[in-house]
Amino acid sequence: MVNASIIGTGAFLPDIVLTNSDMEMMVETTDEWIITRTGIKERRICPRGMATSDLGYRAAIAACEDAAVKPGEIDFIIAATITPDKFFPSTACLIQSKLGIKNIPVFDLSAACSGFIYGLEIARNFIACGTYKTGLVVANECMSRMTDYTDRSTCVLLGDGAGAAVVRASGKEPGIMGSYISADGNYGDILAAPAGGSYMPSSFDTVEKHLHSMKMEGATLFKIAILSMSESVNKVLDNHGFKKEDVSMIIPHQANLRIIQGVARNLNIPVEKFYINIEKYGNMSAACIPVALDEAYRKGLLKKGDLILTVAFGGGLTWGANLIKWTK
Ligand code: ACO
Repeated sequence: MVNASIIGTGAFLPDIVLTNSDMEMMVETTDEWIITRTGIKERRICPRGMATSDLGYRAAIAACEDAAVKPGEIDFIIAATITPDKFFPSTACLIQSKLGIKNIPVFDLSAACSGFIYGLEIARNFIACGTYKTGLVVANECMSRMTDYTDRSTCVLLGDGAGAAVVRASGKEPGIMGSYISADGNYGDILAAPAGGSYMPSSFDTVEKHLHSMKMEGATLFKIAILSMSESVNKVLDNHGFKKEDVSMIIPHQANLRIIQGVARNLNIPVEKFYINIEKYGNMSAACIPVALDEAYRKGLLKKGDLILTVAFGGGLTWGANLIKWTK
């Protein structure tokens, strides 16, 4: 088996900022409610004329530059998204074209907020088999394009952004040591965009009723999120013979500050070990983790040899964690 390491990361956040005061003018809410119930102060919004692949492309370029890898050296692209530019071609194909690369396999991955974790695990396995040497995992979302800005219970949560990682076959020392990924489709209805697919095709009715936007049962999700994220951390550590004390930093999905605090409490891990940037970006679905990873790395908070964990839950429901020895 060939080991795989993250050799470069990148992120892209659009310039447009939507603050809690802006939200106060759109729905019946307050800055105080949003901050105390979620931890979010502002979120980024993709400008008109740009779409998910534009954000992903910029994050991919930043990751390639960081890795000192030319796009032509990339052997495969995985694009995690639930807000693709179009049903098809895939967002991965659009990113490939923007990068000017031809004749490599590229595909989209739909695992909602767990998308980057799933993507990293697939990249690790592609490389472990010896089939490919260098892969690009991009997690990109324009959540604003599927947000109902009349629904205060969801619109205050979501934002746009993209993060990416270049993964390459490494020597004997494993970088991405392993992952735990899982799902339970029985919970599909509690977090979904009901219309627009083959089940409920687009119609005047679906548009009028905002059925193309994200709907969720927030309170139910909140509890499942804490349980599934805690389980993921325990499983990935147990499976690889590590203890919680061995971990330098946990990079969690940023859905709600209180969920992160709940996971920390549940696991009896100090919340200071969790990297948190939810106040700036809100929930960018799959993009949260690679954006946070890139931010922590560029701030110099990750040291070579550190053991770090990513952990998320999302629509599907899906959940999981990656265990990573930082090798940069
Ligand atoms: N401003 C003011 N009041 C609000 C707002 C708002 N933005 N949103 C909801 N409320 C109200 C509700 O209507 C409710 O009022 P009521 O008691 O009169 O009915 C009250 O606040 C309390 O609502 P709760 O749902 O109990 O609030 P809670 O503290 O649970 O917070 C939240 C809601 C933030 C949605 C929380 O449940 C949560 O974070 N859940 C998990 C969400 C999540 O992680 N989703 C993932 C989706 S993203 C993805 O996967 C792509």
